Amino acid sequence: MSIRRLPPELINRIAAGEVVERPASALKELVENSLDAGASQVSVRLSAGGLELVEVADDGCGMSPDEMRLSLERHATSKLPDGAIDRVASFGFRGEALPSIASVSHLRLESRVLGADGWFIEIDHGEKVAEGPAALPPGTRIRVERLFDKVPARRKFLRSPRSEYSACLDAVKRLAMARSDVGFTLDHDGRRILSLQPADAPARVAELLTHELDRHGVGIDCTREGLRLTGVISLPTFNRGIADQQYLFVNSRPVKDRLLVGALRAAYRDLIARDRHPIAALFLDVPLEEVDVNVHPAKTEVRFRDPAAVRGLIVGSLRRALDEESQRSAAREQAAAPVMWTTSATYDEQLNRHSRASGDEQGWDPAFAGVTTLREEQRLFEHPPAARAEPAVESVQSYPLGVARGQVAATYIVAEAEDGLVIVDQHAAHERLVLERMRLAREGGAVARQVLLIPEVVELDESHCDRLDGAAAELGDMGLELERFGPSAMLVRAVPAALGKADAANLLADLAAEIAELGGPLSLRDKLDHVAATIACHGSVRAGRVLSVAEMNALLREMEVTPRSGQCNHGRPTWVKLGHSEIEKLFGRK
Ligand SMILES: Nc1ncnc2c1ncn2[C@@H]1O[C@H](COP(=O)(O)OP(=O)(O)O)[C@@H](O)[C@H]1O
Ligand SMILES: [Mg+2]
Repeated sequence: MSIRRLPPELINRIAAGEVVERPASALKELVENSLDAGASQVSVRLSAGGLELVEVADDGCGMSPDEMRLSLERHATSKLPDGAIDRVASFGFRGEALPSIASVSHLRLESRVLGADGWFIEIDHGEKVAEGPAALPPGTRIRVERLFDKVPARRKFLRSPRSEYSACLDAVKRLAMARSDVGFTLDHDGRRILSLQPADAPARVAELLTHELDRHGVGIDCTREGLRLTGVISLPTFNRGIADQQYLFVNSRPVKDRLLVGALRAAYRDLIARDRHPIAALFLDVPLEEVDVNVHPAKTEVRFRDPAAVRGLIVGSLRRALDEESQRSAAREQAAAPVMWTTSATYDEQLNRHSRASGDEQGWDPAFAGVTTLREEQRLFEHPPAARAEPAVESVQSYPLGVARGQVAATYIVAEAEDGLVIVDQHAAHERLVLERMRLAREGGAVARQVLLIPEVVELDESHCDRLDGAAAELGDMGLELERFGPSAMLVRAVPAALGKADAANLLADLAAEIAELGGPLSLRDKLDHVAATIACHGSVRAGRVLSVAEMNALLREMEVTPRSGQCNHGRPTWVKLGHSEIEKLFGRK
């Protein structure tokens, strides 16, 4: 085995593997360079999601021809002037982005320093093919074409232009939030997508996040021991199916750091279901020496000298802000409390303990949820007690899930079976039934649709519309007929009949998120079940709806003949049964 030095082209390609995975990562590096060059305006143009063209132009300091040549060499950087790797304030510092990108594409670099003439250099897959004078305003313009054309291994991993485009849009949004003082434009396939004037941070964030946050957002501004946290987060009730709208920044650098994401999660623990995600734009400012940004080639992760302090600040201040705002949320969503049957001995003890603690109205302990006095119910469900008893209309014997005896809190059906007491979570159960119905109809090839008399217009993010648009045929097969209605709206023409009256806007937003998570329309066919489940959830009887005895019994009967009806689409049980012998044990009769 002989050791040899790798040729520079190969070194660059290896680095490219780390720094430029896809058009969006090349774009991120180029925009970061523009910001580091002091640009006040950054203009981005893309074709075919960046697969054909990524172009970034800025009005920054520009480069002389010599600097341009140097910039294309590995580990050549104008940043880190005194080698202070532990105090990095610029986005870049590794000096590998430009040579890496140039090694896997056709790149044209044009630049001009104020008061001098412009120059261009063209590189094809690592080799200089031309250079000479160029006409351009002061600043720099870089065009990247045919990215990965000659790197089939990489090319294979690229997705459709549409999903590469959403990744590019996401990258620009993150940097535009990080530097609200800079103006940005983004054009895709000749269309203007973003046009952002310099603004203060809250205004920029508001412009780029969903406008719903005006109503459903909570502002954050907290300082502790030299750390400062600012930004906005969503109320727990305003959440999403995927974590795609969490924008986190450390010293104005967009990061996807695990510590920060974990702290955000922790702040919402037990306020939000485990499979739902808040929206957030959070800016953490820490002294430069408190953070190491050189732990990841794309610099999206950081290392804190005192991670516990950072976590404490985030969890503490978000939690406090959410608690203060808890009255504002439409309905306080508590994590489902485990049913805990209790005997009168422990009951008294718990009630005592509870009344001691109950000075704090918000701070109830889910462990007490099993103690179902009327007073407790009131606290649990935040509306007046809705339990009611019904005379049995049929003989109890004939049905495994029994006959309905009543409804508790407009959420749970209480039924009497031959061998015990059955409690059904009406929403979870119905959701399952709708899903199974849709599945059956699909297998039979005929999903009943309900055509809307007046088609509904739903406004959504453009990228969401793109996703739904791309999946329109498959969704149509499931009875959901959609049509594009301008860049950022969809027209709903028909809904699956199983859905009944549903909130189309919410359904579409969840579906788009679902499709994004599943990896694009191509794989959708295999994953129809997920999408069907999302539709089913929207079509289901909500907790909180008062049901008639006939409706309750109909639900029970359908559950008995439906496969997999014992668990909801999220894997929780739809019903529990307390057998006669267990009831007897509770009362010490056995
Ligand atoms: N848009 C730009 N304007 C001015 N100078 C630039 C621009 N892009 C790159 N440069 C110069 O090229 C050098 C190399 O860039 P890059 O490979 O991204 O490494 P890094 O950003 O880590 O220094 C930078 O340090 C900078 O001097
Ligand atoms: Mg750079």
